[in-house]
Amino acid sequence: MIDDERLNAFEARIDAGEKIEPGDWMPDEYRRQLIRMISQHAHSEVVGMLPEGAWITRAPNLRQKLVLLAKVQDEAGHGQYLYHAAETLGATREELIEALLAGRAKYASVFNYPSLTWADMGAIGWLVDGAAILNQTMLARCSYGPYSRAMVRICAEESFHKKQGQEMVIRYARGTPAQRAMVQDAINRWWWPTLMMFGPHDSDSTNSPALLRWRIKTKTNDALRQEFVNELVPDLQAIDLSVPDAQLRRDAASGNWLIGPINWDEFWAVVRGNGPCNRERLEARRRAHAEGQWVREALAAYATRAAPREQAAVAG
Ligand code: 3HC
Repeated sequence: MIDDERLNAFEARIDAGEKIEPGDWMPDEYRRQLIRMISQHAHSEVVGMLPEGAWITRAPNLRQKLVLLAKVQDEAGHGQYLYHAAETLGATREELIEALLAGRAKYASVFNYPSLTWADMGAIGWLVDGAAILNQTMLARCSYGPYSRAMVRICAEESFHKKQGQEMVIRYARGTPAQRAMVQDAINRWWWPTLMMFGPHDSDSTNSPALLRWRIKTKTNDALRQEFVNELVPDLQAIDLSVPDAQLRRDAASGNWLIGPINWDEFWAVVRGNGPCNRERLEARRRAHAEGQWVREALAAYATRAAPREQAAVAG
C-alpha cells in the first residue's frame, strides 16, 4: 500500500479504538512523538526521585521513612518501565540516558524546585503525584499499546503516592501552629510548579494537535489542569489551607475554579535549564550514572560469558 493508504488504514484503526503495537506500521511522526513523550516521562520519574530522596534519611519516624522509601523505589521502577516502553519503538536506553546526562533531554520542570522542609514530601505526594495521576490515567487510554499498559501499573502505584502525601498534609494542617505554617508554606511553593506540569496552554501546545489526532493524548493540557484545580481547591479548603492565587475564583456557570495567570516566563526558564535546581539535578544524575558504571560492566561481562553456555543449552 502507498503511504496515504497506509496512513488512512492506520487512522481508521485509531478511530476504531485499536491499540497500535510495536510491530505495526505507524507514521514516523507517531513514532517520534511517542519516543519524545515516553523518554521525557521516564527521565521525569528518575529525576523526580531526587527531591524526595534527599529526605529519606531525615524522616521524622520509621513509618514515614518506610513509606517514603517505598515511594521513591516505585519511581525508579516507573522509569525503567517507561525506558523499556521507549525501546519498543526502536530507541535505546543508552541514547535516551546519554541525551539526559548531556542536558539535551527534557524532563518535568516541577522537579527543578527544591524540597525545603519535610512537609514538602506531603505537598509533592498530594499535588505532584495527584497531577501525575490525572495525566497518567488519561495516558492509560493512549493508542500505543505498550505505553497504555505501562500506565495501568504505574497509576495503581501513584494512587498510593498521592494518598500518603494527602495523609501527611492533613495531619500537619491539623497539627501545631508550626506544622500548619510548614505545610501551608509547602503548598505555596509547589502549587504553581504543579500547574505547569500539564504543559503550556492549548494554544501554545505545539505537539498537542498530532497527539490528539492519533489519540496519544485524549485530553488537552488545559482540560487536565482544570480537572486538577477543581479537585484540589475544595479539598485544601476543607482543611483550611489556601492556594497562593489572589485571583482564584469560582465560576458559578461552569462550576470551575478559575486561576490567575501562570508565569510562563518562569516555566520556560526552568524548561530551558535555568530553574532553581536544574544544575544540581543533572549533576546528581551524572554522578549516579558514573557510580553505576561498574554494575553495567559486570552485567555486560556476565552476558558475554553466559552467552555460549546459553546457546549450547538452546542447541542441546
Ligand atoms: N516540563 C518540561 N517540559 C515541558 C513541560 C513540563 N512540565 N510541559 C511541556 N513541556 C515541553 C514539551 O516537552 C514540548 O517540548 P518538546 O517539543 O521539545 O518536547 C514543549 O514544552 C511544548 O509543550 P507541548 O504541550 O507541545 O508538549 P506535550 O504535548 O508533550 O505536553 C506533557 C507536555 C503534558 C508533559 C506531555 O508531554 C505528557 O503528558 N507527557 C507524559 C507524562 C509526563 O511526562 N509527565 C511528567 C511527570 S512524570 C511524574 O509526574 C512522575 C510522578 O511519579 C510524580
